[in-house]
Amino acid sequence: MLEIRKLSRHFGAKAAVDSASFTLERAGFIGVIGRSGAGKSTLLRMINRLTDATTGEVLFHGQNVLTLQGAAKRRWQGQCAMIFQQFNLVPRLDVASNVLHGLLNQRSTLTAMFSLWSDADIGRALAILDRLGIADQAAKRAEALSGGQQQRVAIARALMQDPQIILADEPIASLDPMNAQVVMDALRRIHEEDGRMVIANLHTLDTARRYCDRVIGMRDGRIVFDGTPAQLTTGVARDIYGADASFSEATTSTALPADRAYAEAMLS
Ligand SMILES: Nc1ncnc2c1ncn2[C@@H]1O[C@H](COP(=O)(O)OP(=O)(O)O)[C@@H](O)[C@H]1O
Ligand SMILES: [Mg+2]
Repeated sequence: MLEIRKLSRHFGAKAAVDSASFTLERAGFIGVIGRSGAGKSTLLRMINRLTDATTGEVLFHGQNVLTLQGAAKRRWQGQCAMIFQQFNLVPRLDVASNVLHGLLNQRSTLTAMFSLWSDADIGRALAILDRLGIADQAAKRAEALSGGQQQRVAIARALMQDPQIILADEPIASLDPMNAQVVMDALRRIHEEDGRMVIANLHTLDTARRYCDRVIGMRDGRIVFDGTPAQLTTGVARDIYGADASFSEATTSTALPADRAYAEAMLS
């Protein structure tokens, strides 16, 4: 259903993503792993059209979504909702309104400006918040919530678009382990219950192994692994994360998340 063909993005002389190709036949739960700078975010942002590709195609049910313009492009962006590491909520706005903002792709900006949400829209927003276990937070300002709660609001906003695909860019990188699990469990449940495809950039191998049924490994803009979690051996992990990461550096608490993942790979 989603086919990435020789997709590249250059920034100056550097290829952030370098001729990436893969095909997702069904709506799976896919993890994209790799060190910081490997090209994971650029890949997701090109699929969602937040970043333009230099060359290549993104085919959804056979149509190249990279050529869509105007309303058709916005419709596509509604079909592949994004979730970000920093949640990207409107901090001073209440939770329910943040969720309703998920409808912005489908409604005119004027409607949104004057907050002309229908009772049905508001009811749906509250039902989605309830599903994520945070309906009691609906009237609070987003900024008053914990990180884990804010990310669930962001997921609720994404669900408001009724997307076929959820693109999550490091959704748990800013969360403590307990909240990380709550958020990943929520994404997994949405995938299983609704049949939505999830593509998540993840920095730890552990999370990719636990939640994903397919893992794509990136290194220097290239796809260097594409397989099941079971195929993700220590040797493969070394390939993805690079043997140049020094072990002592990777195990210190100040190490980059990707380097910690490398350390985990070495220890497992
Ligand atoms: N807007 C940009 N301008 C210049 N270089 C960029 C830009 N965005 C990303 N890059 C570069 O592209 C590479 C891949 O970045 P990114 O996709 O953010 O990787 P990741 O998400 O895996 O950390 C990095 O070298 C990064 O510095
Ligand atoms: Mg990134």
